[in-house]
Amino acid sequence: MKKLFLVAFVVFSLVAFAATLKVGAVLPMTGGISAFGQMAWEGIQVAYELKPTVAGHEVKLILIDNRSEKTEAANAVARATDKEHVVGIIGQIASSHSLAGGAVAEKKHVPMISPTSTNPLVTQGKKYISRACFIDPFQGGAAAVFAFKKLGVKNVVAFTDVEQDYSVGLTNYFIKAFKKFGGKVRQVFYKTGDQDFTAQVSIALKYHPDAIYITGYYPEAALISRQARQLGFKGYILGGDGFDAPELIKIGGEAVDGAYFTTHYNANGAATELSKKFVKMYKEKYGKPPSAFAALAFDAYLILADSLERALSKNPELVNDLQGLREALAKEIRNTKNFEGASGYITINENGDAVKSVVVAVVRVNAPTDKQFDFAGIVNPEEIPF
Ligand code: PHE
Repeated sequence: MKKLFLVAFVVFSLVAFAATLKVGAVLPMTGGISAFGQMAWEGIQVAYELKPTVAGHEVKLILIDNRSEKTEAANAVARATDKEHVVGIIGQIASSHSLAGGAVAEKKHVPMISPTSTNPLVTQGKKYISRACFIDPFQGGAAAVFAFKKLGVKNVVAFTDVEQDYSVGLTNYFIKAFKKFGGKVRQVFYKTGDQDFTAQVSIALKYHPDAIYITGYYPEAALISRQARQLGFKGYILGGDGFDAPELIKIGGEAVDGAYFTTHYNANGAATELSKKFVKMYKEKYGKPPSAFAALAFDAYLILADSLERALSKNPELVNDLQGLREALAKEIRNTKNFEGASGYITINENGDAVKSVVVAVVRVNAPTDKQFDFAGIVNPEEIPF
């Protein structure tokens, strides 16, 4: 009888104690880069299937759309924090959105982990913002290594989207590394939403480049590629992780065939045991291979959940202290060491940045869907000249 009472008591206190931990996902579900938000959300849902509870508490995902806009990116973080009372946020996707939203998160002391924002300023000088991906000095450097050393490219025209922190930064880091190798780079500029690039392409072609390097996002990159081919450009088309969406091919068609771009992950070059499991689960659920954005968002959720678990196992009482738990979570995210993710083993350094290899993919327009972005190489941190 006594025993039964004890069991009942334990069960009762466990049930009473189990809380719901809200985790925000602030993503561009509509607007210009919605393809990336959709893919990230799919990745998060697969991760959630693997880990729906943390330290015995149920996790509840709260999805908030930033509409691919900077102002909304900031509003969404405020809403997640003050109205939804989330313990932490997964987001955002574009660097400009993570910068706008990150300023709010930092002020409100709520941890945010970006799956894919690569601009260095996103985490710089911040305590609460981290990321599951590498940063652009490294991505731009890797593009320079690949272009110069693997493709033998010497003369490049870079196309920079002046409205995107991501594009401006990436171009600059590429130029720095490429010039160190002895290569030549000129720049032309455009803006998000532009449709006609014939003026920039005409200027670019006057320099007779071996390659054009487009550091913006897929909608404009695909159109620039088309117009460059229409105007007779025969050289290499190069890009960054802004290329990594099937829409690049939908908009660009044959023009993007053979383009190379740097990115975070390639489903054909699975990095860990968990990558294989992730690819399988994702394909079963969505009937298509996962993109880098899905993989990184999957990783961001798991890093957040694992960090939350470490925080709560050190101090279970924090479950009743939302702000205390946020503080502990922000610290634990930065204690992530050798964490097995779908995109590889992830260590987050003291700046909040993940240190990882860069993957190079090549576009094969006429290949079966899961080979259209094929694995073309890898560049490791040691190979970058700064
Ligand atoms: N690394 C890119 C960035 O920081 C990620 C991205 C690519 C976001 C493409 C949106 C679209 O902005």
